[in-house]
Amino acid sequence: MPASRECSLTEFLDLLRDSLRDDACWGVVLSQPRDPAGATKWTARPIELSGERRFQLAERRAKQEFHHNLTAKELLTRIADALGQQFQQGDLFSADADFSARVIRDGVVRLTRRKPSKSAPPLTHDRRKQYLIPEGRPCPFLTEIGVMTPTGQVKASMQAKFRQVNRFLEFVDDVLPELPSTGVLHVIDFGCGKSYLTFALHYLLTELRGREVEIIGLDLKAEVVADCQRIAEKLGCRGLRFEVGDIAGYLATGIVDLSVSLHACDTATDAALAQAVRWQAKVILAVPCCQHEVFGLLSDDSLSGLLRHGILKERFAALATDALRAALLETVGYRTQIVEFIDLEHTPKNLLLRAVRADRPNPESPARYEQLKRQLNLDEFALERLLSTEFA
Ligand SMILES: C[S@@+](CC[C@H](N)C(=O)[O-])C[C@H]1O[C@@H](n2cnc3c(N)ncnc32)[C@H](O)[C@@H]1O
Repeated sequence: MPASRECSLTEFLDLLRDSLRDDACWGVVLSQPRDPAGATKWTARPIELSGERRFQLAERRAKQEFHHNLTAKELLTRIADALGQQFQQGDLFSADADFSARVIRDGVVRLTRRKPSKSAPPLTHDRRKQYLIPEGRPCPFLTEIGVMTPTGQVKASMQAKFRQVNRFLEFVDDVLPELPSTGVLHVIDFGCGKSYLTFALHYLLTELRGREVEIIGLDLKAEVVADCQRIAEKLGCRGLRFEVGDIAGYLATGIVDLSVSLHACDTATDAALAQAVRWQAKVILAVPCCQHEVFGLLSDDSLSGLLRHGILKERFAALATDALRAALLETVGYRTQIVEFIDLEHTPKNLLLRAVRADRPNPESPARYEQLKRQLNLDEFALERLLSTEFA
């Protein structure tokens, strides 16, 4: 069933901007003209001109068609000006999904999302971003988990997952210089779930970077863990194993170089961060998910104009939680950054917290953290409680 909802026209234009940025826009159509005497339809498709990526915009007027070759930025500007003015309907065909936006009133559209119906046109194929795992090269774990065919083609319904896997690998590849350059790399993936990203991590470190690893995927769900272990054995993934367990109580037996927690719900992310800090992991990568705790702690008296709207309070609480986590990690000796991960299901939960152990803590960090808490009118939150010993 297609998912349909009302949203702002800007949101649709943001989807278009993202797909253009990622070289993942396979076409755009504007239709339902307000004035049938003018242009009746615009169809844009990616082309290559003198080695550069461009979009050919075909403008239909009566029986004639006019062509304009535009950059992605020019196309976005043209569409932003025309949708809602000249045309009432916009369709975006992207690697993630087909999106239809029907203008229902000024600045508001009914947005429908369907499974992607198109795959990359041949012209754009060569110019697609060079992924660490490129399409066309068979990759055993992606075949096993149903993302690729055995010949290396990415299934249309799995394009988004494929991009997510590659984006994650770029982040890991980026932090490799922060990890020991020789010997076995010790990695833990907290809340690994079906482990698409754990297998990807193993593939990057062993196959692409030639490292010896000991990677543990940990999850509460016994059946999921058993399934991942079976796949790891079937594929002969050396140094990769899965365990059933709770993040909070997990005892690491030795060094942890890299701690990963992706979409671990609510305070499970805090538990994962606290464990990583205790083990003095050199790098922490966390993509938080559904931050409920701070939502309940924010008092409506502070910023009442903002917090009285439920949806804004929810988003603000999520951002505040991640800001608190980053600030707190700095006080215990990490350099932190919060960057955009990937917009998988068009949810605002797409931030990645990247923390790298610093040689010495920044002396200004504790004051900055306390100031943030004061501004938010908070006494403490989960990660601070979990790290109380480190604070003491
Ligand atoms: C949304 S899934 C994410 C899976 C995977 N990391 C990903 O990003 O694709 C969250 C996983 O975290 C696991 N989880 C949640 N709380 C946990 C805890 N306290 N200890 C271990 N696993 C936990 C859940 O069982 C679930 O499989």
